Amino acid sequence: MALSFQHLTSTKQLTREDMDAILKVSLEMEKVRDSGSSELLKGKVLASLFYEPSTRTRMSFEAAMHRLGGSVITAEGIQFSSMYKGETIEDTIQMASQYVDIIVMRHPEQGSADKAAQVSGVPFINAGDGPGQHPTQGILDMVTISKERGTLDGISITMVGDLLYGRTVHSLSFLLGLYKDVTFTFVAPDALQMPEKVTSYLDEKGMKYSVTQELEDGLNSDVLYMTRIQKERFADSSQYEKLKDSYILEAAHVKDRDITVMHPLPRVNEISTDVDALPNAAYFRQANNGVIARMALLAMLLGEA
Ligand code: NCD
Repeated sequence: MALSFQHLTSTKQLTREDMDAILKVSLEMEKVRDSGSSELLKGKVLASLFYEPSTRTRMSFEAAMHRLGGSVITAEGIQFSSMYKGETIEDTIQMASQYVDIIVMRHPEQGSADKAAQVSGVPFINAGDGPGQHPTQGILDMVTISKERGTLDGISITMVGDLLYGRTVHSLSFLLGLYKDVTFTFVAPDALQMPEKVTSYLDEKGMKYSVTQELEDGLNSDVLYMTRIQKERFADSSQYEKLKDSYILEAAHVKDRDITVMHPLPRVNEISTDVDALPNAAYFRQANNGVIARMALLAMLLGEA
């Protein structure tokens, strides 16, 4: 199925048709994965460039490529790459385009993905550009909500934690804005509330959202999306220390409610481990969906699905 874009830097690029098609292919990919190996991307090579820490995103992209019969070459950490010698993002990507069929990159600088996409000779995927966007996380979150709740239209979602620097909630909000009658509750300390780039988009779309500092105000939604306070984005570490334990979800908050708990992970303190055993806890299933969603994206961007 064709997508309306060649490079994926932001979820703002997607149409509803794109998102629906990715959902459909992700569910097909789930069957492919569960039935063993596939040769769909045999002979194709992925460059996996991670200049900022990652566990899930990187491992699930690489697992996705391997599951489809493709191969992976990697570069990690600016200190081990030519970027350390002063090579620009643009030059690194033009080089990588000579070697591979598709590129995934995570980089600490907001806007780095746009720079890369402008010069990439092969499909380019943003795996997180600083506090900017994390489009593939947003996509796997949509797959998760659809599987857990059976629909995307009409859902209510509460986003909690670091909504200012958390790129996952930005990417997810733009995608939910493509669906009908989605309502949002944003729970954050004033200093970490959802930025204007997201709220103005929701205003344009006529979406309803409310803003609060109290976790209790957000427990009546269908989905509770917890996030980590993004320590690495704070210029002033005392400000981080003050805010780091703003919200801690415990089993008692959700055990008698029909609410799906999600988290992009890694968690630090914000979800107590006593939540893990509850049927509400969807965050490990969510991580699992990362592989099928990325299998779908790789295959679609390479014109093979
Ligand atoms: C997120 C990220 O990197 O933005 N992690 C992930 O990709 N699953 C969330 C985070 O680091 O808090």
